[in-house]
Amino acid sequence: MPAADILIIGAGVAGLYTALKLAPRPVTVITARPLGEASSSAWAQGGMAAAVGPDDSAKLHLADTLGAGAGLVDAEAARVLAEGGAFAVEELTRYGVAFDRNADGSLKLGREAAHCRDCIVHATGDRAGAAIMEALIAAVRKSPHIAVLERVVVEDLLRDDQGAVGGALAYDVKKAARVALRASETVLATGGLGGLYAVTTNPTPAQGHGLAFAARAGAVIRDPEFVQFHPTALDIGADPAPLATEALRGDGALLVNRDGRRFMPDYHKGAELAPRDVVARAVEAERAAGRGAYLDARAAIGAKFPDAYPTVFAACRRANIDPCTELMPVAPAAHYHMGGVMTDLDGRSSLEGLSAVGEVASSGVHGANRLASNSLLEAVVFGARIADRLRDATLKSRKTAKAPADRLPLASKPAPPAAMAILRAAMSKGAALIRSEQSLLKTIDVISALRRRGDMTSGLKSALASAELIAQGALDREESRGAHTRADFPDTGEERFHTELSIDVSEIEMEKV
Ligand code: SIN
Repeated sequence: MPAADILIIGAGVAGLYTALKLAPRPVTVITARPLGEASSSAWAQGGMAAAVGPDDSAKLHLADTLGAGAGLVDAEAARVLAEGGAFAVEELTRYGVAFDRNADGSLKLGREAAHCRDCIVHATGDRAGAAIMEALIAAVRKSPHIAVLERVVVEDLLRDDQGAVGGALAYDVKKAARVALRASETVLATGGLGGLYAVTTNPTPAQGHGLAFAARAGAVIRDPEFVQFHPTALDIGADPAPLATEALRGDGALLVNRDGRRFMPDYHKGAELAPRDVVARAVEAERAAGRGAYLDARAAIGAKFPDAYPTVFAACRRANIDPCTELMPVAPAAHYHMGGVMTDLDGRSSLEGLSAVGEVASSGVHGANRLASNSLLEAVVFGARIADRLRDATLKSRKTAKAPADRLPLASKPAPPAAMAILRAAMSKGAALIRSEQSLLKTIDVISALRRRGDMTSGLKSALASAELIAQGALDREESRGAHTRADFPDTGEERFHTELSIDVSEIEMEKV
C-alpha cells in the first residue's frame, strides 16, 4: 500500500472533523467498521456545550469546566475549548447540522449538570451525536482529499528507528490480510473504552485499543484512572446499557427511590444537577442500600417525552416502559474516559509523528471529571487545531520497520467473548465507581491470568493493556478526586498531580517485528 501523508485512525466526530479540516491535504481515514457504525460519537445524546446564549460567555464555560475537573484541568486547554464553542457551532451548521432552534431562529439551549448556564445545543432532541455524524459522513463522502478505508482493524503502530510513529499495522477484513499503512503523520482518534466494563453506555467494541497502541509505542499516557460513570443508564438488562441523557434532569426530571422519595437533595445542594460523579455515587448508594434508583420524568416532561427524547423513548419502549407515565430504573455505567494519550494544545503526543484527538487523548480539558457535553466540542476544537498544524507542514518521510506484517505473533481477531466477559466483570467489580487497593490488585490479577490463557488475540491484548493502565493508575492514585473514588483513601489530597504512565517499549515483543 502506498505511504499516506496523514493517516487518521478512527472515524467518529474527532477523526472525521480533523480529516475534513485538513483539506486540501490528502488524508487516509481508517475505521474498523463501516463509517458511522458502533461509534460513540453517534450515540451522544446530550449535545455540545457552547457559550452561545445571550447571558453566557466563554469565561463562564471555562469556570464550569475548571470546577468540574477537580483541580486537574489544564486552564489553557480549557480556555481554548471554551473560546471555541461559538465557532464550533457555526462550523457544524455549515456542514449541515440542523441544531434545534426556537421560533425566532435562536439556538435552543439546554442545561446539564455543573453548568451555570443553559448552554447545550441539541439536534432533534437527543440525537445530537447522530446528527453531527450524519453531516460529517456526508461531507467526507464528497471530499476528494479524503480516502476512507472501512473494515480495516489497526493492531499496532509502526515506528522508525528513532521511535517516531510512521503509520500502523492493520488487518484488512475484506482482503483477509495484514497490511502495513505507512504515513508521515498518524492521528489517533479511536475513542474510548467503556466496553472494558460490564455496564457501559458505549458501543461494546470501544475497548481502549487506541490507548494500548499509543502505550505500546512508548507514548505517555496521562491519568488513565479517570473513568467517568454516567449516573443514569437505563437498568433494563441491555448491553450496552442505553443512556438516559442528563438533559432529562436539566429539563426537570427527578431521581427517586423505590418509595418515590427524591434523594439527590440529601447528597448535594445541586441535587439532580450536581456534578456527574456525585450523582453517580448517590445513585449507586441508593441501589446498594436496596432502595433502588429511578428517573421520574412524568411531571416535568410527560407527554412531550417521545418528541423531545426520541432515543431514550425508543429504548424505554423496547423494555416495555412508558417514561411519560412510568419511572425509569437507572444505574451508573462506564461512559467516558478522561485520561488518555497526553497531548499538547495542538494535539501532539509525546512521540514524534503521533497526534491524538477526542476521547483517546488527554488534552487537559477534562481533568478528573469531564463537564457534561464538553466532549463533542473537544473533538471539533482540537481536531481543527491538529489540521491547522499539519495542513501546510513539510512532512517527514519515515523509514518504519520493513519486517513483514505477518510476523506478528497473534491472531488478528477481536477479543474472545469468554475472556472479555471475565475482564468486563473484573473491571466493573474492582476498577469502577468506587475502588480500593484490594479491589484493584484483584483486578490486576485477573488481567494477568487472562494474559496466560491460550486464547490471546490482537484485540484481547489491547483490551488487557488498557484495562491494566486504568487499574495501575487507580492503584497509584492514593486519594479520591473527581471521578476516581478510593474507599481506602476517601479524601482529596492537597497535592495536585497527574499520573503519567509509559511502557518500556524495548520489552515488548510486538515491537520486534
Ligand atoms: C448525556 O447526554 O447525559 C451525556 C452527555 C455527555 O456525556 O456529555
